[in-house]
Amino acid sequence: GYQDRINIAIDGPAGAGKSTVARMVASRLQYIYVDTGAMYRAVTWFMLNQGIDAENHEKVLQHAQNMVIELKPHETGQMVLLNGEDVTPFIRLHQVSASVSKYARIEGLRTKLVHLQQQMATQKGVVMDGRDIGTTVLPDAELKIFMTASVKERALRRFNELRDESITLEQLEHDIAERDRLDAEREVSPLRCAEDAIVLDTTQMDINQVVEAILSYCETVLDGE
Ligand code: DC
Repeated sequence: GYQDRINIAIDGPAGAGKSTVARMVASRLQYIYVDTGAMYRAVTWFMLNQGIDAENHEKVLQHAQNMVIELKPHETGQMVLLNGEDVTPFIRLHQVSASVSKYARIEGLRTKLVHLQQQMATQKGVVMDGRDIGTTVLPDAELKIFMTASVKERALRRFNELRDESITLEQLEHDIAERDRLDAEREVSPLRCAEDAIVLDTTQMDINQVVEAILSYCETVLDGE
């Protein structure tokens, strides 16, 4: 029933397959999927377009203040609207992926996005994926999963997903390792595993196995309530 809904936090490094898995889990449970990385990506796309340097925190925050970000459910994931404009086609571009960590470490920007994410989860029944969901955004989430996989495996997954001939596997491996480093080392909300999270190393698992594993943890939580 309506009261049995829980919030599920899925964190982990770039390319672990979080978004695919989170979307599938949400669909199976008829929950709402919230892709927080897409929010950071949308902001990054906007700032790059406006020529606002990530080092200029004051200017970034000035522009972020009145920014309206909306997530709309869509068959193939999620639509991201920024000030009413659909920016979904742009947020996965290489230039965005390469710059997003620099904007994501700006404290005031995170505060704004975290607040928005918390509002999205107040009704429960949310599967939220990101880096700081279990630790900062939803510390009270009933189920927390920390999904990992080796850098090699994650690069390979993204390579197969992108099908972009201009990017080599080696380039992706390098980018992913660099993004891990920036995400883990930043002062504000670094990527780290919540103490009460279940660690899932998916290097040797396929997507369906990961989804089934999470659904069964979910059953356990619901049975215990
Ligand atoms: O999950 P993703 O690759 O789409 O995330 C894009 C970037 O946004 C990634 O470099 C880390 C950052 N991010 C974050 O700092 N906090 C989140 N909750 C989600 C993403």
